[in-house]
Amino acid sequence: MRLEGKVALITGAAAGVKGDIMGFGGAAAWLFAAEGAKLVLADINEEQGRRTEAQLCDSGHDAVFTRLDVTSEDDWQAAVALTVNTYGKLDVLINNAGTGGRMRLMETTEELWDAQMDVHGKGVFLGMKYAIPEMRKTGGGSIINVSSIYGLVGSATSTAYHAGKGASRILSKSAAIQYAGEGIRVNSIHPGFCRTPMTNASYQNAEHYDALLQRIPMGRVGQPEELAQGMLYLASDESRYVTGAELVIDGGVTAT
Ligand code: NAI
Repeated sequence: MRLEGKVALITGAAAGVKGDIMGFGGAAAWLFAAEGAKLVLADINEEQGRRTEAQLCDSGHDAVFTRLDVTSEDDWQAAVALTVNTYGKLDVLINNAGTGGRMRLMETTEELWDAQMDVHGKGVFLGMKYAIPEMRKTGGGSIINVSSIYGLVGSATSTAYHAGKGASRILSKSAAIQYAGEGIRVNSIHPGFCRTPMTNASYQNAEHYDALLQRIPMGRVGQPEELAQGMLYLASDESRYVTGAELVIDGGVTAT
């Protein structure tokens, strides 16, 4: 029970239905629940989020779903208030919500740029802004911002996604320094290529998928559970001396 007594708010956590392909947030919800955490699942996908919530509760876990658009300040205030009203505190925030955008620079419209920066930059900022005051009340907490290997290295596409994930990475370090003295840790996770609802459709294209596998030293894509294990470490007290760090989970892609 590595998270016993802890309360965690996970964004982008709708895809946690057993039997379906899960996202990182959904997989983390099940792993965290098994380790004793109480959960608030947040997402814009209300239908799927409610199914995940129901399955977790039917399995005897404490979980509540709330509709949260991470780009909305009002939604963040409501989600954090719901967390504290339901469970009395907030110990762990996982800023995991995200969307893809595989456009080259010249194909990137202003609208796409803004949308990517809003979710991956502003969303992470707002989450920290409203979670940190609650963590200060209890004398500590752990914030995990899900960036990407695309927040560390470039590629031929995904221009605005790279910019947004880079923002998430450096925002984490900025917050880590500001709150290190108060027991609030902030780290980023950098997943490589993993099969989730977000990527599964593009992995059906055999040419694209084979080219992807060539880039992965371990020769396979990652599973959501393998990312959730990294989140568990950073959420638990085992990582109590870790802040401002980048946890890369990518089968060796960025080692090449
Ligand atoms: P997923 O399939 O679970 O999708 C992400 C979730 O975020 C969805 O449930 C979606 O409804 C939600 N979401 C999107 N915009 C939102 C908003 N404005 N407010 C609240 N929720 C919103 O995806 P996956 O792949 O598990 O992604 C989780 C995170 O990991 C994302 O930030 C993604 O960019 C990142 N990531 C994923 C990689 C992969 O290969 N799957 C690789 C590197 C990073």
